[in-house]
Amino acid sequence: MTSLKARTKQNNGRHSPTPSVKRVLQPTRSGQPVLISGGAGFIGANLAHRLLSAGQSVLLYDNLSRPGVEQNFQWLQKTHGDLVRLEIADVRDARALRLAVRRASSVFHFAAQVAVTTSLSDPIQDFEVNARGTLNVLEALRARTTPPPLLFTSTNKVYGDLKDVDLRANTTRYEPSDPDLREHGIGEPRPLDFHSPYGCSKGCACQYVLDYARSFRLPTVAFHMSCIYGLHQHGTEDQGWVAHFLLRALENSPITIYGDGRQVRDILFVDDLVNAFLLAHRHMRTLTGQAFNIGGGPGNTISLLELIALITELQGHGPKVQFAKWRSADQRYYVSDIRKFSIATGWSPQVNVREGVSRLYEWLRDSRRETGATVPDLTAAAVAGNGHQSHRASHLAAGAGRQIRLKSLSRARRMYQMNGVNGRHAAKKLVKALSR
Ligand SMILES: NC(=O)c1ccc[n+]([C@@H]2O[C@H](COP(=O)([O-])OP(=O)(O)OC[C@H]3O[C@@H](n4cnc5c(N)ncnc54)[C@H](O)[C@@H]3O)[C@@H](O)[C@H]2O)c1
Repeated sequence: MTSLKARTKQNNGRHSPTPSVKRVLQPTRSGQPVLISGGAGFIGANLAHRLLSAGQSVLLYDNLSRPGVEQNFQWLQKTHGDLVRLEIADVRDARALRLAVRRASSVFHFAAQVAVTTSLSDPIQDFEVNARGTLNVLEALRARTTPPPLLFTSTNKVYGDLKDVDLRANTTRYEPSDPDLREHGIGEPRPLDFHSPYGCSKGCACQYVLDYARSFRLPTVAFHMSCIYGLHQHGTEDQGWVAHFLLRALENSPITIYGDGRQVRDILFVDDLVNAFLLAHRHMRTLTGQAFNIGGGPGNTISLLELIALITELQGHGPKVQFAKWRSADQRYYVSDIRKFSIATGWSPQVNVREGVSRLYEWLRDSRRETGATVPDLTAAAVAGNGHQSHRASHLAAGAGRQIRLKSLSRARRMYQMNGVNGRHAAKKLVKALSR
C-alpha cells in the first residue's frame, strides 16, 4: 500500500488547505471507518480522497446507479488500496444501512436522486431515495448508543424559484436590485419554499436531519448547497452544468442553454467544499441542529453566458450554443450568503472561478486524451429513462474486476441505452460492452 506521505502528495488539489483544516486531517487511527453514502459519486469521492490521504479508513456505501461513478471508485482503490472499501447497497435498504452505520465513526450522507428533471418524471422514486433514504440513515444512527456525527447535503432548491427577488439585467447576467442582496446573497433566514419534487424530497430530508438533532439529540449538520464543480464530476445536462458545458465543448457538440443564459449561480470548487465538511465535522458540537448556505458566495459567481465566454477563452474558439425555453422552477439568480458558516468556522472559498474552471477543463481534456472517452457524454442516458443504470449491471461489472474504459462515444451510448433494464441479460451485455 502507498505510504501516507506519498498519498498526501498525490492529492490532486493544488492549493493547500487552511491551517485549521490541516489539523482536522490528522489521521484518527480509529479502527472505525468514516461512512460516506453516495461515496462513489462526485462529492463523495473527493471527500473520500482527502480522508484517505490523511490515513483515515473510509467505507463507501453506494448502489453505483449514477453512470460513470465506478471510475471514481477505481481511482480511489488504485490510489489508496485497502484503506477504502465499497459496499454496493441502496439507502432504501434499511437493514444493510443499519449494519454499515453500526461500524462508522462519522457519517456523511450524500446518496441521492440528484436531478430536478428526473424527479419530475418519477416523483415516487425521488421521494423514496431522498426522503425515505435519509430517514433510514437517521434511524440507523438513532439505534447507536452514542450516535456519531452526521453531515447531510441539501440544496439551494429549498428556497424555491425566488421570483419575488427584484432583478435587473445587463448584457450577460441578472443581479438583484437590492444592494444588500447583491453584496451578500441569499441567507438562511430566507423562508423555505420547496419547488419541484427534488426540492420537496431534499427539503423534507433536511428538516428530518435538523429535527433529529432537536428531538433525539443526534449531532447533525445540513448544508444548503449551491452549484459544486470539480474533478471527478460526471456532469450531465440534468446535474453538474459546469462540467457538462465543458464536456460538450470538448466534444465539439452543441450546448443547450435553457432560458436566456443570464441566470447567475455562485459556484464552489469541490476542494473548498471538502474543507467546509471537515470544519463542520470539527465544530459539530456548536453547529449541531443547524443548516448553512454553502456555495462560492458573492466572490465566485458566473452566468451561463459568462461560462460560455470563459470556455471560448480556454479553447481558443467558441463552443456551439443553442437556446431552448426556460426550465420550470429555474432560479434566475442564486448566490449563497456564506457568512453564517464563515463566522462559525473561519471557512472561506480559496479557489476562484477562473482557476477552478480551468482545472476542471484540463482534467476533462486530459482524461479524454488518455482513454479515448473515459468521461462519456451521459446526457442521452440522463434524458432517456432515469439517468441511472441498473445496479445489478454495475455490480456485475465491478465483480468482473475489469478496467472500465469506454473507447468510443457510441460504446458509451450503447452502455447507457441499457439504463433501467434490470435483467440478467442486460447485465451480461453491459459486462461484455465494458470489457471490449
Ligand atoms: N453537485 C452539486 O452541485 C450539488 C448541489 C446541491 C446538492 N448536492 C447534493 O450533494 C450530494 C452529492 O451530489 P453529487 O454531485 O456528488 O452527486 P453524484 O450523483 O455524483 O453522487 C451521488 C451518489 O449517490 C449514489 N446513489 C444514488 N442513489 C442511491 C441509492 N438509492 N442508494 C445508494 N447510493 C445511491 C450514486 O450512485 C452516486 O454515486 C447529493 O445529495 C446532492 O443532492 C449536490
